[in-house]
Amino acid sequence: PPESPLSLIASTLDVLATILPSHLLKPQVGIVCGSGLSTLASTFRDKVEVPYSSLRGFGSSTVPGHKSALAFGLVGPGKGVPVVAMLGRFHAYEGHALSTVVYPIRVMARLGVKNLIVTNAAGSLNPELPVGTIVVIQDHLALPNLTGLNPLLGPLLSPSYPRFLPISSAYSPSLRRLAFIASHHLSLPPSALSEGIYAWVSGPTYESPAEGRFLRNAGASVVGMSTVPEVCVAKEEGMEVMVLSLVTNFVVIPEKYRSIKEEVQAELDGKPLHIAEAESVSHEEVLAIGKEKGEVMTRLVEKIIELIPSP
Ligand code: 6GU
Repeated sequence: PPESPLSLIASTLDVLATILPSHLLKPQVGIVCGSGLSTLASTFRDKVEVPYSSLRGFGSSTVPGHKSALAFGLVGPGKGVPVVAMLGRFHAYEGHALSTVVYPIRVMARLGVKNLIVTNAAGSLNPELPVGTIVVIQDHLALPNLTGLNPLLGPLLSPSYPRFLPISSAYSPSLRRLAFIASHHLSLPPSALSEGIYAWVSGPTYESPAEGRFLRNAGASVVGMSTVPEVCVAKEEGMEVMVLSLVTNFVVIPEKYRSIKEEVQAELDGKPLHIAEAESVSHEEVLAIGKEKGEVMTRLVEKIIELIPSP
């Protein structure tokens, strides 16, 4: 018979219990590192990295810029706060089931994680959010959730979970406050940290110009291909969740379409038009900004962890 999700989780927890020293086994904070942001774990003390390949139930991350391991360690001054970070996440576009995408979050919940900090690289839909801005997410626009690709579709993992999960307050106001307080403590300029709405799309294609315009007009500030599944499940598991999106590029939304009809007519009239090369996004660009701004993101996340009240 197929293994039940809960017994699979139990077997992952057993493996972790044999590998980890006791002071790392009960992390208080979980972190998900987005594209190019795995350096977040470089300053963990007493760090133990557990490759996903040694954990049943975990997929493997196939995207360049994503490692494939859980990192356990201590963060912050004094004794430090025990944390666990996903170095590399799973995306639906890699062919992973959404249940695999969110599996590590379910494991974190059972390790005792109460606060989850999710990072990602995202495209900006708003000229007031330039490349390099860190956006504290206040809400999401998840077209896949509304149209049959909801991460919570299916039987409940436990009968104690709500069948209809409210996610109107998924993005923890208290953690979001800490982000801005942390930014102040670090003397970051006010423009470094902004607020906005994350649009989740399934990918792997980037948005067409019409789709980018649609998301912007629907009220989204940034767009990306991750995060929302993890947020929904973290909420179902009763965690406080915060999302930090690093703007790595602008979504290409031309004000006016290039008209081939006008171009051909102009050529026939002997007055050819000079058309600028169309812009497009690249994953290399996304990774380069992650590398450049990764350090600010690391300091911010560390300070936020330091500010989270201990239970
Ligand atoms: Cl422009 N679009 C999407 N969907 N994801 C992104 C992105 C854009 N830039 C970084 N991640």
